[in-house]
Amino acid sequence: MRPETEASVTVTTGVPSDAAALARLHAACFARGWDGESIRRYLGDPNCLALLARRSGVSTLQGFLICRASGAEAEILSLAVAPEMRGQRIGEALWLTARSELLSRGVDRVVLEVGEDNKAALALYSKFDFRKVGRRKDYYQSASGEPPLSGLIMACDLAASSGP
Ligand SMILES: CC(C)(COP(=O)(O)OP(=O)(O)OC[C@H]1O[C@@H](n2cnc3c(N)ncnc32)[C@H](O)[C@@H]1OP(=O)(O)O)[C@@H](O)C(=O)NCCC(=O)NCCS
Repeated sequence: MRPETEASVTVTTGVPSDAAALARLHAACFARGWDGESIRRYLGDPNCLALLARRSGVSTLQGFLICRASGAEAEILSLAVAPEMRGQRIGEALWLTARSELLSRGVDRVVLEVGEDNKAALALYSKFDFRKVGRRKDYYQSASGEPPLSGLIMACDLAASSGP
């Protein structure tokens, strides 16, 4: 695990008993939260990797990354950092830890889908060599009457990407 960020956050692997805390943080970061049961399934799935970031000595979760591998390809299902902790390289630490772990599991390509207006996430993924490979037009429908938002599909060739 990559141990340090600017906020002295430690990254560890999640276990099923982390589900409730993860659901709380997910709900604080996304308009559509995931329920505890779905998260518990991800945490118990051997093909999934769930990484959790906590400030050293404190049990509260500060960030998470969940991905699922299928053969040599993995997909990032969700990545988020608590709003008050952003900008302290926690997202970066989560990705770099995932990258190392996925490489050690024989994964060579990682894909994800991200809203095309999500500047922070797009900057993070671009910094670590994810490239746009597709676009899902009007993928995100708004419940509050906002125009739909398209999603970008991005992919990263792990061996050629920046890492520690
Ligand atoms: C995307 C997210 C996970 C980034 O986490 P973070 O811990 O704040 O990011 P970091 O501090 O590790 O930043 C790493 C790099 O990402 C980019 N970045 C992060 N936040 C940024 C912002 N607000 N604006 C521009 N670039 C940003 C920068 O390139 C940065 O590196 P640099 O400082 O050397 O330029 C966070 O903003 C978040 O949780 N957003 C809400 C949930 C979300 O949208 N998840 C992604 C779904 S696909």
